[in-house]
This record gives sequence, C-alpha cells and structure tokens, in this order.
Amino acid sequence: MVPENQSGSVIVGLETADDASVFKLDTGKVIVQTVDFFTPIVNDPYLFGQIAAANSLSDIYAMGAEPSYALSMVAFPCKIGMDILVKIVEGGLDKMKEAGVSIVGGHSVDDEEPKYGFSVTGFCAEEEIIRNSTAKPGNLIYLTKPVGTGILATAIKADMIKEEELTDYLAQVTKLNKYAKDAALAAKATALTDVTGFGVIGHLYEMAKASGLSAKIKASSVKLNKKALEFVDYGIMPAGLHENKKYVEDSFSADKGIDKIVLDMLFDPQTNGGLLISVAEENAGVLEGELSKRDEIFSRIGSFFDGEPGKIRASN
Ligand code: CO
Ligand code: CO
Repeated sequence: MVPENQSGSVIVGLETADDASVFKLDTGKVIVQTVDFFTPIVNDPYLFGQIAAANSLSDIYAMGAEPSYALSMVAFPCKIGMDILVKIVEGGLDKMKEAGVSIVGGHSVDDEEPKYGFSVTGFCAEEEIIRNSTAKPGNLIYLTKPVGTGILATAIKADMIKEEELTDYLAQVTKLNKYAKDAALAAKATALTDVTGFGVIGHLYEMAKASGLSAKIKASSVKLNKKALEFVDYGIMPAGLHENKKYVEDSFSADKGIDKIVLDMLFDPQTNGGLLISVAEENAGVLEGELSKRDEIFSRIGSFFDGEPGKIRASN
C-alpha cells in the first residue's frame, strides 16, 4: 500500500505518474528528485555507465529542471574483475560531468548481476516545473529521438548484432535529454515527459490521462530506428513490449492499415528514450527551431483534444 501524500509540501507526488517528485523548500525553491538503476543493455562497460547516468538524469530533465548532484548505486559481481567496474563508473562520471552534475556519494554491493544507476537531485523555482499533467486541448505533441532501444537491447543480448554496428543507436541512447529539455523550455512547452519503460504510447497515455485529454497520433510520423524495425520483423521483441500493449488496451485504438511492425514499435520500452513535448500551436515553430539548433532528431507526432481522458487514437 502506498501511503497517501500527507505533507502539504509535496507538489508532485505519485498521483499523476509524473517523472520525478517535487517538494517545496522553505526558501521558495523546489527540490526535484528521482532514482533509477538497471542491468546492462550493452556489452561495453563504459557505454553502459554512460547510458545508466543519462537515463537517471532524464526524469529530472523531464520535469523541466536542471540536476545538481547525484548518488550512485552499484551492484557488481566482484569475481568478474574490478577493471570492468572501473570502466562502468568512468562512463557514469563522464556523463555526469557533461551534465554538470557532481556525484557526491553512493553505495555498492556484491551481486550476481551488475546493476548501475543514480538517485539525482535538482532544484528550481516552482513555476519552472513542467508537469506531464498540464497539456491543453489543441496542443501539438512532439517526440525526440528515434524509437527502438528495447528491441536493439534484446538483439544485442541474443548476440544477433554487435553494438559496434549500431553507432546511430549508441549516439541516441547515450545522449542527454538536457538539450531537448532546453528547447522545450525556450518554446514554453505546456507539458513534458520522457519515454522510458512504457514506450511511446504508454507515456503518452499517462500524459493525456493526467491532463484530462484525449490524443491522436499519426503512427507513420514517429521516427523509428531502422535496424530495430528489421528485428521486429524477425519477431525479436522484449517481453515488456507485450506488457505495454496490455497496459493501455482499453485506451488505445488504431486505424486499419497501419503497419503492424510500426505499431509494435510504439510500445517498445525505451531506456533514456526521447521527450514527449506538448506545445501550443503558435510556439511550434520556435520548438522546431530550438530542437534543430541542438541537432535533435524529432518529429511532430500528433495533438491533444478534449475527450475521454487517456484515450489515444492512431492513424496512418
Ligand atoms: Co520519466
Ligand atoms: Co524513472
């Protein structure tokens, strides 16, 4: 049982399935906090460290905030050699450095399977917070980063492809969402969230439901990783993809004629996936300009409208 929000100082808690907690401080500022850790999705330890750090930071960016400091969590089988652990930690440190975040402590345990991640803390003014629950009818929906992390991680684990062959993918999965967040702030985004374990539709569903709106999307406008598309065609999919479909089955519907492979990819669980950005139509041009300036891969995927909260309809 999750205890109810008992303190008046909790500004964002569990209620809207938002990205991070927000707690009001006496100084008038708010503190934004999140925690995330997971098992390797690539074989290279340095890359894994970078991905784990970028992924942990993402939920802070998804609140429109800047991270300040982090505490690391490490689980590692000591018997496989400390040199590997050193590389994981170096990857994490380098990514945190890029983000301007200090690692101030942490905890490590001996474990069968490696796990790595961070608890991250940021501060900002209350009015700077961008929730996932404040999209407005008529707002346009943008998505950054191509989709396909879960599928490619599954293929790498099954030794069907080497990550060295996936340079485009690695560039995106290690990329901080900081830059897309800055673009969203410049365009006065009305709501924001990052795409992680529930896939594009799962996170859009949370956003729409929390905002009390329906959403329509154009499936063919979502940018997909081409290599991941090939693997889905062979039936290589993470178990989470099917769970994600179940999660929204009462709220999601799709027009006939949408490629089944494309539909599958909309449910692919992402690690450090892109941002879903809700923006007023008159600010869409600013958003596109700001994202392009930062070399983001993005597309406009749909819009919100007045309707049953959380309902999503996909057209071709
Ligand atoms: Co999130
Ligand atoms: Co998270």
